[in-house]
Amino acid sequence: MHLLGRPGGEPGEVFAFFEEKQEKRLHKVRHGMEQSEVDGLLILSRPNVRYLSGFTGTSGFLLVTRGSAFLFADFRYRQQAREETPGFEVVDIKSPGSFQEAAEVVLDHGLGSLGVEEAHISLREYSQLKKALGEEIVPVPLSGTVEAVRAIKDRDEVEQIFAAAEIADGALREVLPLVKPGVSEHEVACELEYRMRRGGSERAPFDVIVASGARSALPHGVAGGKIIGEGEPVIIDLGATRGGYCSDMTRTFFVGTPDREQEEVYTRVLHAQEAALEHLRAGLSGAEADRLARGYLEDCGLGKYFGHGLGHGVGLEVHELPTLSPRGKDLLQEGMVFTVEPGVYIEGWGGVRIEDLVVLEAGGPRVLSRKEKSLESSILSRGVM
Ligand code: GLY
Ligand code: MN
Ligand code: MN
Repeated sequence: MHLLGRPGGEPGEVFAFFEEKQEKRLHKVRHGMEQSEVDGLLILSRPNVRYLSGFTGTSGFLLVTRGSAFLFADFRYRQQAREETPGFEVVDIKSPGSFQEAAEVVLDHGLGSLGVEEAHISLREYSQLKKALGEEIVPVPLSGTVEAVRAIKDRDEVEQIFAAAEIADGALREVLPLVKPGVSEHEVACELEYRMRRGGSERAPFDVIVASGARSALPHGVAGGKIIGEGEPVIIDLGATRGGYCSDMTRTFFVGTPDREQEEVYTRVLHAQEAALEHLRAGLSGAEADRLARGYLEDCGLGKYFGHGLGHGVGLEVHELPTLSPRGKDLLQEGMVFTVEPGVYIEGWGGVRIEDLVVLEAGGPRVLSRKEKSLESSILSRGVM
């Protein structure tokens, strides 16, 4: 666990700091468990496991009860589990995915009910779990208990996300001179990935999107072999990872001078994003936030081309809560980190998306991505970067 900006560095101090943070997180999760009326919660999602325990292994799961917290890990992770998870009792399991040991803890502790993360268990695992628990306890499917806590970031998490955003910003600036006619989308994507890794990114949170010409109408047009042509729009969407935390940013460029229609669509999308950034506040629902940009694009006659939500939370996962979309019911709160990414995609013509990462503060959103986004800065032939 990286603890940016913290004094000291003695293992004891670092653990003490992390345990305090862990306690707060567990307290909130236990509150969620109370509301769902379960005595225990089985946590299988990797980011949720990491968030609550600090454990970075790629296998293993947690059981949180009202008074205790357990990490179940097999032989491969025993040492790592004990080193990374102060505050958790580490229980050895005989083989990866075995629920036998967890069922014994559940029964020994006399738990009356057990919640299970329904979105993170396969049908096979579910039947194995039911078998291990026997007749007495039927698992209760739950969703979002830990994710709701993760949606509000603390200072250290925002620092990590900002560090990831800085890496992506830097890589984009370095690689932009390469984006010109005759270069393939794939070459641009490879350079971006390489520069982000060199810049300190731990992994790519998603495949870099480089979508040029008519392909820019594909919202998730992962880079292909297509050669970038003169006058084409190019959507570049990239993210880095730092301390496990992701970033996510998109810019749209024109290789050559954009025509009037391209300029107009770009300007409309930029205005839609600015309108959203200006009016976003804690207390708005995800749907109300989405409307800030969508309403503007609808007024311009472009609403039907904005086929996805305005944004999504970003943290240990690149897509997490909150959801800013016409279906977003949850209220935005201070400390949430999310994207603001209106886009217009017109089949056969191309697309424009402008995506920034923000942290919601008392006065409104603070933008974490720094790359310019004026129309002028999107025109690569003019050499303004
Ligand atoms: N990079 C994927 C997204 O913006 O959601
Ligand atoms: Mn995004
Ligand atoms: Mn993106």
